[in-house]
Formats: sequence, structure tokens, C-alpha cells
Amino acid sequence: MRVLGIETSCDETAAAVVENGKRVVTNVVATQLALHRRFNGVVQELASRAHLQKIADVIEEARAGAGALDAVAYTRGPGLMGPLLVGKVAAQTLAAMIGVPLVPVHHLEGHIFAAELCGELKFPLAALIVSGGHTDLLISPGPGRYKVLGRTRDDAAGEAYDKVARLLGLGFPGGPAIDRRAKEGDAKAVDFPRPLMPETWDFSFAGLKTSVLYHVQKRWPKRFAGGLKAREGEDGPTPQETADLCASFQEALIETLVWKAMRAAKKYGVRQLVIGGGVAANSRLRQAAAARGLQEGVEVLQPPPWLCTDNGVMIAQVAVHRLSRRRVSRLTRCDPAMPFSNWGA
Ligand code: KG4
Ligand code: ZN
Repeated sequence: MRVLGIETSCDETAAAVVENGKRVVTNVVATQLALHRRFNGVVQELASRAHLQKIADVIEEARAGAGALDAVAYTRGPGLMGPLLVGKVAAQTLAAMIGVPLVPVHHLEGHIFAAELCGELKFPLAALIVSGGHTDLLISPGPGRYKVLGRTRDDAAGEAYDKVARLLGLGFPGGPAIDRRAKEGDAKAVDFPRPLMPETWDFSFAGLKTSVLYHVQKRWPKRFAGGLKAREGEDGPTPQETADLCASFQEALIETLVWKAMRAAKKYGVRQLVIGGGVAANSRLRQAAAARGLQEGVEVLQPPPWLCTDNGVMIAQVAVHRLSRRRVSRLTRCDPAMPFSNWGA
């Protein structure tokens, strides 16, 4: 069975063909990062237009040499409305033209099933989906059945990365930049609070982000007086101090993610913890989750970084299961829009 998966929920126009749920035949991702960089976040209207300009070429490239298709899948949400609509219309049109089933897929289910390309999913499992729009902790007794235990009450993990990076002048997207800089930094340099909130499965990262802001405002008052609009030319952190800030912020955030995910895995007696979404590409998160899993006796499945960020493979992979089991996802409680509010703006 060959399935084409189309993903357009945010800022990647992506399409891929997956064979029998095992082999990635083609995988095409056209990223819009350069387009959104100067706005320090994804601008919905620009994203919609860019998807519209790219979608036909991306699909054509993914189909080239991939053989006959048995189904077309697309991301039905959650995500940005305009971008989602572009993917949906393209998928509907193609499926009708070639006469194959059309499979709408929940984006978060896609992030979980991406892990299947690198190992077997073992149910019941716990899943931690961490990206620019999501920080969700789920429990799944089997494919297509999910219970959302908790999610972020304010900023998503990736959003916190992006905003702290903006504050420190590290550009967009902030996650990879902080990941890189943190490698040269001391994670113990600044003792930022760990927002563990043991009474709930929810997360909250706005306080941690604000702690970073208050810390730099106190330490370099002139440079950071304007919050996110740091003043050029005023005394600011040295490259080493920036690396220390990155490492300390990252450690507080990751410790919280891993602590809560492991706690859920133990409490619900799952066989596996799956981690997905753009932030799952983070080198420190990967290392910390693997080490903690070994300690706690919980198997941790983390797809390679190229399968963590948005892609069409994960969407096709869900469709393969859906078609073979004739099961429909019951994922609920999803927001139609992915927030990319501008901190301090
Ligand atoms: O899943 P994704 O590609 O798109 C969304 O659905 O949001 O995730 C993008 C997010 C961005 O916030 C980006 O900063 C973050 O994932 N990210 C990372 C890393 N690579 C991407 N965060 C931390 N470390 C990374 N290496
Ligand atoms: Zn995503």
C-alpha cells in the first residue's frame, strides 16, 4: 500500500509517499523559515500564500517515481486555518482525480506515528508532543485512542524557546539556535525555576520565560530595558554568558518536560514513552529523556530529528494504520488555531 501524506499546518509545505507503513519512498519539505525570520514568528497570511505557491510542485516532486497511490492523506488540524485549507483542497482534488480514498489526519497523531519509522510502537504508550504550537502529554491504549492528560496553559515549549532566543538576539527559529549555543554553556550558571506543578499534568512555560527576561533586565539593565526590543550598543551578555543563559534556560525547561512525562509513564504503567514534535529534535532533551528512561525502566522512542519537525511521512503513516484497521481517530480537545502570539508586542 502506497500512501501520499500532505502536511501544511504551519510553515512547512510537505508531502511524502510511504510504502506499507515501513518504507519512505519520497519525502519533500519546502520550509518557509526564511520568509518568517524577520517577523520572529510565523505570519499566517504569508504562510498561506507560500503554501499555495509551493503545494503543487511539492506534491509533484513527492509523486515523481513513487508509483501508483492507494490513498491520499492530509493534516486536518490543529494548525493555522489558511495553511490547513491549502493542504486540504490539494488533497481532496488529487484524491478525486485519481480515484483513491482521502484520509484526514490529526496532526498530533502524526507526530506519534512518526516514531514508527524508527521502531515498533508498543501500546499502551505515553506520548509527549512538543513543538512551536503544542506541549501535550497523552496516554494511548491503542492506535486511534488517545486521552490528553495535560497540555500547556500558556506558551508551548517551542514557543518559549523562540521567545527567549528573540530576547537574546539569536534569531528565528529559536530552538535550534539555543540548542547549539547551550552546548558551550554551563547549565548551572543561573538557577531558573522549574515549573513542575505536581498537582496537574498541565505545563506552563510563561513564568520561566519571564524569569529569563527579569534576570537579563537586572543584570544588563540598559540593554534589556525595552524587554524584547533589546537596545543595540548597550552592554549585554558576552558570548559565554549567552551560552550559559541558553544552557540554564534549556535545562529548566527540559527537566520539567522529562520529569512530567516519566511521571505519567510510571503512573499509567505504559510500555513506552514516545516523544515527537519539533522540540523533540533537541539534543539535550533526547539525551535527558533516554538517560531518565534507562534509570526508570521506561523504553523511550524518539524519532530522528528529520521526523520530529513537521513532514508528510508522519501523516501518511497514520493513514496506513487507519486504512488497514478501518479505525477513526477519536482525538478531541484540539484547538483549531495554533497560537504564535508575539511576546511583549
Ligand atoms: O513541529 P514543528 O516543526 O512545527 C510546529 O508544529 O510548531 O516545531 C517547530 C518548533 C519551533 O518552535 C522550533 O524552535 C522548535 O520546534 N525546535 C527546537 C529544535 N528544533 C526545532 N527546539 C529546541 N531544540 C531544537 N533542536
Ligand atoms: Zn508539528
